[in-house]
Amino acid sequence: MSKVKTSFFCQNCGAQSLKWVGKCGSCGEWNTYVEEKVVKDNPNSINFFSTNQNSHHTPNQPILLQDVGLQNFPRIPVPGKEFGRVLGGGIVPGSLVLFGGEPGIGKSTLMLQIALRLKNLKILYVSGEESEQQIKMRAERIGITTENCYLLQETNTQNIFLRISEIKPQLLIIDSIQTLYSSKIESSPGSVSQVRECAAELLRFAKETNTPVFMIGHITKEGSLAGPKVLEHMVDTVLQFEGDRNHVFRLLRAVKNRFGNTNEMGIYEMQGEGLKEVLNPSEILITNRENNTSGVAIAATMEGNRPMLIETQALVSSAAFGTPQRSSNGFDTRRLAMLLAVLEKRCGFKLSLKDVFINIAGGIRVEDPGIDLALLCAILSSNEDMAIPQNTCFAAEVGLTGEIRPVNRIEQRILEAEKLGFEKIYISTFNLKGLNLKNYKIEIISVAKMEDVFSSIFG
Ligand code: TYD
Ligand code: MG
Repeated sequence: MSKVKTSFFCQNCGAQSLKWVGKCGSCGEWNTYVEEKVVKDNPNSINFFSTNQNSHHTPNQPILLQDVGLQNFPRIPVPGKEFGRVLGGGIVPGSLVLFGGEPGIGKSTLMLQIALRLKNLKILYVSGEESEQQIKMRAERIGITTENCYLLQETNTQNIFLRISEIKPQLLIIDSIQTLYSSKIESSPGSVSQVRECAAELLRFAKETNTPVFMIGHITKEGSLAGPKVLEHMVDTVLQFEGDRNHVFRLLRAVKNRFGNTNEMGIYEMQGEGLKEVLNPSEILITNRENNTSGVAIAATMEGNRPMLIETQALVSSAAFGTPQRSSNGFDTRRLAMLLAVLEKRCGFKLSLKDVFINIAGGIRVEDPGIDLALLCAILSSNEDMAIPQNTCFAAEVGLTGEIRPVNRIEQRILEAEKLGFEKIYISTFNLKGLNLKNYKIEIISVAKMEDVFSSIFG
């Protein structure tokens, strides 16, 4: 006999309360509590096709750490370099992966592409958003054929598990978690308790049958996975697909990974035939400049473990209206405000009456602070209307006192700049330690203060 119970859930963070409250105690949002019916029933009502169905009845024995056998879980290799690398070297059996991104960024395309390429695995692609025909059309566009990929258009988890027990897939893809609903809960699909329940069922399925599961999840306007902080801690890995929809580049990052590090990043380019891996990002992200233009500086950044040279562009002009505008594309606006304040206060540039626009080429969002110096130089170059020599690049962070701070993995950055034919790189004096300048053909210029950089470039 099932027991009916209602509870209130915050639609923002998933917190639960027995009575209605105006302000959520855990995330601080107002008016987010909604009453949802929770039907508790026997947790064993779903029977996966596992052999150890009763595992949660027999209590586990404690075991000494030294006695734990390291079963090497053989990872499933993924064709192509980027996806497997971001996962930490392939798909781990029994792992639950949340794959998030804004609508239209290419999540379904990437997942389908992976499914089509893993020809040796039996794959079930469950779609609650698109019809089989739509998916077929996308597969035709991608142009890979396989005989092992099943499509299922279904949103009820109990029905999905029924089909799973018939097909016995070796990899399950859910597109998307927000469209699923479980009959055990009476709230609508996409609500926090549904999303959590469906994810919990998928988690049990993944762990009990050792099948890897990928769940696509949409990201809300605020940038969090919708419904969803609740999901982030349940899953083993959170992947995020990001980029500007109007540009072709897409970045795949691991936000959380229990089976690898979160530094890795993959770059894709959206083309007519699906997503193509970008193996030489630096060459593409630097536009070919024929003549010297002001307001452009090249940053030697690290995205994950990969050095990447990125073009930063700035436009400084007199403010047309009273309040000057600061706008940035691909760079944190608050950090931009801080860097401008440093220029104003520490270096004496009067930028408070000027509009400042920033753009990172390729629509890529950069998180590495090593881009600071290049950005400031681009701003100064535009302000002075003097071009920075094309053979020059920058790798340093700028601190609040205008000091040039060191960045990590400086050797890799320098080598990448050298590889791409740059002749000068500006780095922090503090980065010189342990660096053998004789090893490099590129001229390394070490600077300690913003003023040094300015006099060195613009004299
Ligand atoms: P989609 O995978 O549907 O995005 P999501 O699942 O994240 O919402 O892809 C969305 C966009 O990708 C769509 O606007 C069209 C574009 N696209 C291409 O440019 N080339 C292609 O080969 C495919 C399949 C899609
Ligand atoms: Mg989709």
